[in-house]
Amino acid sequence: MNLQVTAVSRIKLWLLFITLLPAFLSGCATNSATAVTENPRGYIADKAMVVSAHPEASRVGMEIMRKGGNAYDATVATQFALAVVFPVAGNIGGGGFTVFRSASGETGTLDYREIAPLASSETMYQDSAGNVVNGLNTDSHLAIGVPGTVDGMVKLHQKLGKLPWAGLVQPAIDLARNGVVLTQKEAEGLNRSREAFIRNNKHKPYLVNEQTWQAGDTLRHENLAHTLERVRDRGREGFYAGETADLLVNEMKRGGGIISKQDLADYASVWRKPLEGDYKGYKVISMSPPSSGGIALLELLEMVQPYNLREYGWQSAGEVQVMTEAERRVYADRATYLGDPGFVDVPVNELLDREYLQERMSTMDMAQATPSASIKAGELPVYESDQTTHFSIVDPAGNAVSTTTTLNGAYGSKVVVEGAGFLLNNEMDDFSAKPGVPNMFGLVGGKANAIAPGKRMLSSMTPTILEKEGKLFMVVGTPGGSTIITSVFQAIVNVLEHDMTMQQAVAAPRFHHQWFPDEIQHEPDAIPTDVRATLERKGYNLEQRNPYGRINAILVLPNGKLEAGADPRGDDAAAGF
Ligand code: GLY
Repeated sequence: MNLQVTAVSRIKLWLLFITLLPAFLSGCATNSATAVTENPRGYIADKAMVVSAHPEASRVGMEIMRKGGNAYDATVATQFALAVVFPVAGNIGGGGFTVFRSASGETGTLDYREIAPLASSETMYQDSAGNVVNGLNTDSHLAIGVPGTVDGMVKLHQKLGKLPWAGLVQPAIDLARNGVVLTQKEAEGLNRSREAFIRNNKHKPYLVNEQTWQAGDTLRHENLAHTLERVRDRGREGFYAGETADLLVNEMKRGGGIISKQDLADYASVWRKPLEGDYKGYKVISMSPPSSGGIALLELLEMVQPYNLREYGWQSAGEVQVMTEAERRVYADRATYLGDPGFVDVPVNELLDREYLQERMSTMDMAQATPSASIKAGELPVYESDQTTHFSIVDPAGNAVSTTTTLNGAYGSKVVVEGAGFLLNNEMDDFSAKPGVPNMFGLVGGKANAIAPGKRMLSSMTPTILEKEGKLFMVVGTPGGSTIITSVFQAIVNVLEHDMTMQQAVAAPRFHHQWFPDEIQHEPDAIPTDVRATLERKGYNLEQRNPYGRINAILVLPNGKLEAGADPRGDDAAAGF
């Protein structure tokens, strides 16, 4: 049989391998280079592949390509399928970004990020004393931005798709109607949010079971199936007008939200030029603002380029230090300069200027940590889920699509549109509610990312594609809120500098620094014990955290076959042929 979906057991073996590898290495690791000695690869396909957060979504996308659809058709079908089988982040009530590279090498991006409703205002989350009211921008109907996903999928299909629209939405409708068998992780996720689902809705949403959910239970999405039928039959109008719009606006009225019919009618996704940079001969193609992802990734790669990360070695103190110091400086720039380019002047060229970035790194001292308090955004000549989900697709012709979409927090605002069966985002938290006050990811921001009607909130999503010698090399991206950028950065460095396979690079434990809080956050086993001690002696604060991010990537092998990197932190899986 040609259809192959990576088995969960295989992924578990991976997790075991990756968990044990650092323990083995730490026995012999020093601050000098360590090597990855094993070279196991992920799932291999001959010519077409989808890697997503859910085996059913990957299967749907893969089957569309087997029917003759291209990577853009598969993107649409996978996105709608994720809205059903992966409600924690897959969505029609959120937004996202798609970066693509055609088989002939043309590149582009589509921005279908949510926008602030027309009735929003800069201080809408502050009380009369100017304090940000806890939960208003994360856990209420006011936290919801105008959704962009459906408009984005329609535009992507109109411009680049091949197969008829209805056939791309139908698999999601079938999944919604027939139901999806919950995995352990999904059952736990729904149970964790049970109280919030009850608290944040006036009705009892169907995601709340009488008892708690168990692995093996079947979750059916009857109202969502009807909503998707309207989208199938009427395209954009099936969501932004008519019955779905009525239901959404009624939901706003019930819960004190502010999205109006006008907001829905006005929503428009935007084609944008991708940001492109170079890392040691590899062309890096990524998302432009209003995502900070592409700009930050290119800044990071440029800043570490002069250092010999390969020689330092994977998980060495030298590598962790150089990458951390670059991250600290880049996140300071992010907080100061980045926002929606429709509203603020984002100094893209200045931020990506080689001299500027080298100057930024010149204050790094290998003998000791640079305190974040001493780092400000750079002086420019002129002035700029964590629940999200990423999937990567390559089709038989060689078109590549990298898509990251989000509801922001897990299940977004937890608000389910009554009668329409879909979850709404809490993306307004990605704006700066007040200068210097951290959002749910601990990110701070200022004027450039202040709320304004119709403005897009700054994102960290980093859907990215790499080329080598003019040919497709890698498709990569991840969820993870503020950690998205550094996770994509590490996956690229793992492959390019440490010769990891795609699956190794995705599974490898990660670390992250975002300026404030001034600490290296790391997964268990991301930094060996002796390296931790070295870094602490130099003044770094280290904070262990639970595993984060779910990178889904595809690597083109020298023989032209495709290797999947499906993140073992979730139920993520590859399908291809
Ligand atoms: N909501 C996460 C992001 O857009 O960065």
